[in-house]
Amino acid sequence: MPTIKMEGIGETSCNVGRRLVLCVEDAGVDILHRCGGNARCTTCRVEIVEGEAGPMPEPERERLSRVEDLAPNTRLSCQVQVRDDLTIRVLRRLRDNPEMSDAGPRPIEWPEDGPLAPE
Ligand code: FES
Repeated sequence: MPTIKMEGIGETSCNVGRRLVLCVEDAGVDILHRCGGNARCTTCRVEIVEGEAGPMPEPERERLSRVEDLAPNTRLSCQVQVRDDLTIRVLRRLRDNPEMSDAGPRPIEWPEDGPLAPE
């Protein structure tokens, strides 16, 4: 089972094929996901510090292309299907946004250990 290291936070393990955002949240981290995992809000963005996060779906690519000043290794964690060990930097947390009452609707679960998207 892949290990997800979150810089400055800790680490967790995550089933292959699962959405990265859900693994992070289930580890007790208040990562934002304001659009519910639909590649629209970008609040679930993370930096991939180490590891291979897999192919970027077109909706994610299109949405990130409209955000300025992103590190080149930025991904939307709601669109990342965990394949292997990763080290990430969580960029948006509820605790840093006191004007928000919650992190957003929980993204739906993809089938755990389900088929991986093609590379
Ligand atoms: S882009 Fe909104 S939750 Fe990922």
